[in-house]
Amino acid sequence: MDWKPDKSLQIPVYRQIADYFETRIGNGEYPSGSSLPSERGLAALLDVNRSTIVSAYEQLNALGLVKRIKGFGTVVTSSAPDGSEAKRIPNWEQYAKGGFLQLNDPITRRIHKIVGSDKPYINFALGELSADLFPTALMQEAHSRLELSQYLGYEHIQGNPILRESIANHLDTHRSISSSPSSILVTSGAQQAIHLIIQCLLKAGDGVAIEDPSYSYSLPIFHSAGLKTFLLPVENEGIDPEQIIPLYKKHRIKMVFVNPIFHNPTGTTLSYERRKRLLEISANYGIAIVEDDPYSLTSFDQQPVATLKSMDQNGSVLYLSSLSKIVSSGLRIGWIAGPQSVIQRLTDAKQQMDFGHSNIPQWIAARLLASPELDDHLMRLRVGLSHKLALTANALRSELGSEARFLTPQGGIHIWCELAGTFDEQRLFNAAIDNGVVFTPGSTLGTSKSHVRLTFSKVEDDLIAPGIRKFAEAYRMTCR
Ligand SMILES: Cc1ncc(COP(=O)(O)O)c(C=O)c1O
Repeated sequence: MDWKPDKSLQIPVYRQIADYFETRIGNGEYPSGSSLPSERGLAALLDVNRSTIVSAYEQLNALGLVKRIKGFGTVVTSSAPDGSEAKRIPNWEQYAKGGFLQLNDPITRRIHKIVGSDKPYINFALGELSADLFPTALMQEAHSRLELSQYLGYEHIQGNPILRESIANHLDTHRSISSSPSSILVTSGAQQAIHLIIQCLLKAGDGVAIEDPSYSYSLPIFHSAGLKTFLLPVENEGIDPEQIIPLYKKHRIKMVFVNPIFHNPTGTTLSYERRKRLLEISANYGIAIVEDDPYSLTSFDQQPVATLKSMDQNGSVLYLSSLSKIVSSGLRIGWIAGPQSVIQRLTDAKQQMDFGHSNIPQWIAARLLASPELDDHLMRLRVGLSHKLALTANALRSELGSEARFLTPQGGIHIWCELAGTFDEQRLFNAAIDNGVVFTPGSTLGTSKSHVRLTFSKVEDDLIAPGIRKFAEAYRMTCR
């Protein structure tokens, strides 16, 4: 609920709350049979006394809109308040439990709720850049040259041709990948690219290998599609490609999803030898590789790491990336580079899904990628991120000493931190939230419950040390 009563108004707060629910019951947001929030929960949410909620619910009761059921709660009545015969309303709560896409896990849902609330949490959970790292001036410049009237229609479903040209040039100059505008599909972030691949190239019962831990692990879309996921543990040098062979022999896995450079969440990079071997194995057994690469341009020492796609001579790799971690997550610009047949198939699906990506962000992205100032921005970004990393790592060392074990990543935006003590993940998560700080518990990203992911890119520099202090306090409070 993003509404709050306005205490400065003359109207009593309980009446405002009753009016709020009366309107929402009237427009079907709370259909008959559904429960209103608990008195205690709503009082906390709206920052009012419980007795105020009781008065509001009593008023709705007097209007015949709800029934107060002892020990159960406040339920919207099924008969119309004027006594006329009740109308049958679809059971929206039941509908909301159905559908093809599974829900996110409860911790992820809680994180999204917290992040969307107006409470000022120090946010080590969200994988995006802080406002000072966005290339705002560059974007404003591009935006000011936008001739709006030319960009108000539908765009080419595969993506704006100028943007695809800019992406192809960018892949060539910054990532040593040769492609052409016709082998690129513009997507709504790398997230939609993963979604399209799962929806269009795989079918229920297919086996895929994903990293443990990984961003992919956190995505219910794999399970919604009925895929069997097999886990490849991530070591300091990334996954061990040899483990793919028995998975192929036993389960005929169809695809391997990897985020080989500055991996989310471990920050590791698949070593050159392992990258080579992964490509060899893929070529020997005909297994497709999906290379998810949002982070390679964040390398702190500026040494470019060769992407799998740039090393692939067999055409085995579908390459995904986006502007989210290097420019702006809000633009929602991502892309897939791959064989024409795949790009055509996914373009057809994108037409069914959303009729192509929004035109204005595509225009801005095209200018940005072609801008000679992009490199200066990337340089500033790397400096800014490595500074945030140093602040976070130093704070962890001084607050938790040897209790916190982590490898210092050479790029990316995450620290994957193992906590030495015995602690209950859920209790730590709750205690941290109560203390004003939010992070990502390890179990949402993989099988480890002794790790946490601390994402440093979004937190303002002067809040990093206080944030880690709050996190450490929560850890000490819950550690047995
Ligand atoms: C490895 C990886 N892939 C894909 C994504 C999705 O990002 P976006 O859809 O914003 O490009 C993320 C976001 O955190 C990520 O870390």
